[in-house]
Amino acid sequence: MIDIQEYKTPQQTNLLKNQSGKKKLYIETYGCQMNVADSELVVSVLQKHGFSVTDDIQQADVILVNTCSIRENAETRVFGRLELFKSIKKKKRNLLIGVIGCMAERLKKQLLEDSRMVDLVVGPDAYRDLPKLVAEAESGQKAINVLLSREETYADLSPVRYDSNGISAFVSIMRGCDNMCSYCVVPFTRGRERSRDPESILREIQELLDLEYKEVTLLGQNVDKYNWNNGEINFAQLLEKVALKAPNMRIRFSTSYPQDMTNEVLYTMSKYQNICKYIHLPVQSGNSRILEKMKRGYSREWYMERIEAIRRIVPDCGISTDIITGFCSETQEEHQDTLSIMQWAKYEFAYMFKYSERPNTFAARNFPDDVPDDEKTRRLQEVIDLQNKLSLESNQKDVGKIFEVLVEGTSKKSEERLFGRNSQNKVVVFNKKNHQIGDFVQVKIVDCSSATLLGESL
Ligand code: SAH
Ligand code: SF4
Ligand code: F3S
Repeated sequence: MIDIQEYKTPQQTNLLKNQSGKKKLYIETYGCQMNVADSELVVSVLQKHGFSVTDDIQQADVILVNTCSIRENAETRVFGRLELFKSIKKKKRNLLIGVIGCMAERLKKQLLEDSRMVDLVVGPDAYRDLPKLVAEAESGQKAINVLLSREETYADLSPVRYDSNGISAFVSIMRGCDNMCSYCVVPFTRGRERSRDPESILREIQELLDLEYKEVTLLGQNVDKYNWNNGEINFAQLLEKVALKAPNMRIRFSTSYPQDMTNEVLYTMSKYQNICKYIHLPVQSGNSRILEKMKRGYSREWYMERIEAIRRIVPDCGISTDIITGFCSETQEEHQDTLSIMQWAKYEFAYMFKYSERPNTFAARNFPDDVPDDEKTRRLQEVIDLQNKLSLESNQKDVGKIFEVLVEGTSKKSEERLFGRNSQNKVVVFNKKNHQIGDFVQVKIVDCSSATLLGESL
């Protein structure tokens, strides 16, 4: 997961927005990049049925909130937003409010029962049905479709990149997840794992090339399980096809899975200059007993071997991770194993979370959530403190180096500075000169913080 919010660039002027005479859709997106990609599909579906997108919530005829269930606080945030939407609806009776995405799938009709203000509930595999469901809701009925599918990949739809910087785009290559990690709600909210037709992926890449995009991120909960036509095309082969199709575009992917990430993928990365040297490889815990309880399917040693393979085959690769603290029955020593694997792996970056019990998952049904909340917080803080130190050390090693940076926008702090990322996915801020958003710029790093590299363009 990338912090898409933090460095959000100004919105591209989009002629498709606010078209007069059309019904107005306001859409808000929470959760992972998959949801960002899905919202683009949702807009594509509704645009064909007379909607245009608005950024002004007060103008909306329909408000959709694309939701996340991954942790309890993700859901709490959305319930907070729903309160605001409801207050708007009180003044505008024919406004429709729809909950889509993972919370829609998890809570289903409970969302309609608990709140008379919610008109629509639509799960991640039912977006093609949106025009019909919106029409139903317009006629005053509550509308719901939360059917999951074994086949749906929306392969033929062209996402509308309504909130894009025009530089970088997400392309879903698969949907769902079959891993069933014991803490995780995704297999329930997103359904079975399925891969998208490679031809349709390449077609979407061509559309991005036509629009002069400079970077694409291939998305899946476990991209290493990509499998088209019973082994005809695996993830490494797909990656190669994409790299060849778009030699001048940066190619990224997320998320890699330690159990399944092959050396073949690593060799493909090292072979193509346009595939970014960056892997997000969530470890979750550094302790083998906890990993087994999490049903991750690998041990500490296996994970370390995979990191060694990355360092060997793609020596300049940036590596980031996800960590959960305070999973059921985790002891102090086991938590130390997480700290020690972080120290060993020297991650460039990490997303760090307290364990949040999710209803009906294997862990919720079988293990008591027995690490007290303040202890989870304490462990999380240790993990965050260590990661800040590791990120700073990693950035300090880059001072003096020259990187190619793809410019994504103007720095929030100064109009005179631009920001972008290097191949390793580190944020680089540098002086503007005559460079434009979308340029590839050679930047020499002169200073850093734990979060950012500071440089001068050459
Ligand atoms: N498919 C990806 C992750 C998707 S969810 C993978 O397996 O690597 C993103 C991250 O949220 C996970 O990596 C995990 O660290 C965190 N997460 C998932 N469920 C969680 C839970 N119940 N409590 C806390 N964090 C959780
Ligand atoms: Fe959840 Fe595990 Fe699937 Fe990731 S791989 S989405 S953590 S079940
Ligand atoms: Fe993504 Fe959250 Fe759903 S992380 S898959 S939006 S539960």
